[in-house]
Amino acid sequence: MKDLKTRIAQAHSDFSKELHACINEQALEIVRIKYLGRQGILTDLMSGLSELNAEEKKVFGPLLNELKKNIQDGIMQAKAEFAHQQKEAEAAKKAHFDVTAQPFYPQGSLHPYTRITQEIEDIFISMGFAVADGPELETEFNNFTGLNIPADHPARDEADTFWLPGFTHLLRTHTSPVQIRTMQSQKPPLAIIVPGRTFRNEATDATHDFMFMQLEGIYIDKNISISNLRATINIFLKKLLGDTIELRFRPGFFPFVEPGIEVDALYSFDKNKPAKWLELMGAGMIHPNVLRHGGIDPEIYSGFAFGMGLTRLAMLKYNISDIRIMHSSNTKFLSQF
Ligand code: DAH
Repeated sequence: MKDLKTRIAQAHSDFSKELHACINEQALEIVRIKYLGRQGILTDLMSGLSELNAEEKKVFGPLLNELKKNIQDGIMQAKAEFAHQQKEAEAAKKAHFDVTAQPFYPQGSLHPYTRITQEIEDIFISMGFAVADGPELETEFNNFTGLNIPADHPARDEADTFWLPGFTHLLRTHTSPVQIRTMQSQKPPLAIIVPGRTFRNEATDATHDFMFMQLEGIYIDKNISISNLRATINIFLKKLLGDTIELRFRPGFFPFVEPGIEVDALYSFDKNKPAKWLELMGAGMIHPNVLRHGGIDPEIYSGFAFGMGLTRLAMLKYNISDIRIMHSSNTKFLSQF
């Protein structure tokens, strides 16, 4: 009996605390169910009455009714208060309605490829180059033979090339075929760059994918020499990667140039580790056979060509360690750019 009395008192004080803590209607509803619900505290206390004798019932019946009324009143008042607050908030919203406000749209960003391509195009355009384009589906001639890559050359390895049935067409393995297309369709002087997608039948890992981007360039005119090539590459890479980048030119072999060179940059991924020489691009003086295939007389004209992995350059510049994320549509990754 005494126990029931303490429990009623406890319920009064608990309810009043919990009612005060309610910050909205949802919280209030939880409290209401806790006290007045079918399996609530009040039902539980009421069920205790049946064990009491008539005298005791006379005492505890009214006490429990009082508790119930107290809880119902408290909840009703709080509900009315919340309704009032909501009305005021809505009125305030109407009073301060801003007809000039813009709806919120999440802001898009440029893919690292778009960013680096635009940056590179700006640099080359400032040096007088134009931007050219070519198809991703190429002829065998433009991709190989025209570029002085003979039939038995390892670059033609079937395993690396996505051939179409019949072996006359393929997904271009590099952007170099646009050299042939440009020479055949325009007369020197020629100064173009070609950013574009290329394809190789390779297993995918953090640094390889079957599709990647390259950037090709050619400059053809009278009296072009390897010093023009060096100067152009120097200006380009320093503008792109920073004035302090250290570059190294060393001999390299590519069938479509003679002499051929490779350009490396001394690059540090981690300031605590020594910098490493990284191969950035191939280049050279365009081979006379290639000029001839493009319909240009090598006795009159000379030129240089260069080609580089744009994917690699973008990963380097933006510190991206996995090529697969570059080719995903992961918006978390993309929103960083
Ligand atoms: N096409 C070559 C490749 O895919 C890159 C290249 C090297 C392009 C030297 C050139 C060049 O124009 O002169 O690896």
